[in-house]
Amino acid sequence: MKARASAPGKAILFGEHSVVYGKPAIAIAVDKKAVVTIREGTTDHTQVKIPELNVYGSIDNDKGIITPQDEDFNPVSPSFNVGILEYIQHALHYHKFKLDHGLDITVNLEIPIGAGLGSSAAITVATIAAAASYSNNQLSREEIAKMAHQVEMNVQGRASPLDTTISTYGGFSYFTHSEGAVKLETDLEMPLVVGYTSQPGNTGELIAMVKKLSLKHPSVINPILDIMETVTNNARESIIKGDQQKIGELMNINQGLLDSLGVNTLELSKMVYESRNAGAIGSKLTGAGGGGSIIAYCPGKTQEVLEKLQNIENAFPVTISSQGVMML
Ligand code: PMV
Repeated sequence: MKARASAPGKAILFGEHSVVYGKPAIAIAVDKKAVVTIREGTTDHTQVKIPELNVYGSIDNDKGIITPQDEDFNPVSPSFNVGILEYIQHALHYHKFKLDHGLDITVNLEIPIGAGLGSSAAITVATIAAAASYSNNQLSREEIAKMAHQVEMNVQGRASPLDTTISTYGGFSYFTHSEGAVKLETDLEMPLVVGYTSQPGNTGELIAMVKKLSLKHPSVINPILDIMETVTNNARESIIKGDQQKIGELMNINQGLLDSLGVNTLELSKMVYESRNAGAIGSKLTGAGGGGSIIAYCPGKTQEVLEKLQNIENAFPVTISSQGVMML
């Protein structure tokens, strides 16, 4: 018996950081995904393999204990990568997925972790969908999104529903605190190049840094957050109209505003400017900043931008995935 599901990662186009202050954000699902395969295991414990991260572990289904192991199944010390097992453990133990025997789980991951591209949400969403199918439960997308958000809350302590919603539904989403994520209907193509530094940004620390700045300079920072809201709302209109040039310009403006909040870095800046020099019509950091990734919007110039960024850091092309979670 086997069940397999995939779920995409995400990129925030507009509104990171300002979203923490109640402002809207726009994000897309990207065509890089997590694929989770569940088979019946041979022991009481669930064995998990994530070959791309070299992560192997065993989960005690009853006690919820995770034992990270190396490839020859010797316990290893927990690391950043190993932390990803917690999402799987919580996803399996959520609600109906209490299973009476061990499973064999393989996660194939196309999304780099710690790059602000929603790898943990994609793994969580795909695990919930695969586990539901394995145990013959029908879940709606709404239920999957809700459960996945709860898993992220359990593991991280706090999380906005943005990543898990995008990963579940796919496409463009406009997120507001009052209405959650609403899918934007548009045929707009979104050829992006992601450039990512090997150093992950620490989202919690960056949020705290911006908070400190806003308390120190409220009369300066609050208007910046208000302008970020206007940028996001104008971008929403441009996305619906399919106005590529305006989207690019608004991305560049957003980058300047994020820089003024102190979340930009020299490495990110370098990639932002080099991608514009190579023909991107807009480029900005994506996610929390302080490391992590940039996105460059480059209709007709993907190859040029990709080559330029690959000379500086790691880079790969992505485009929008209109598909969210899928059973395979
Ligand atoms: O880097 P990520 O994907 O964790 O994005 C963080 C975005 C913030 O706006 C800084 C925080 C949030 O929860 O929205």
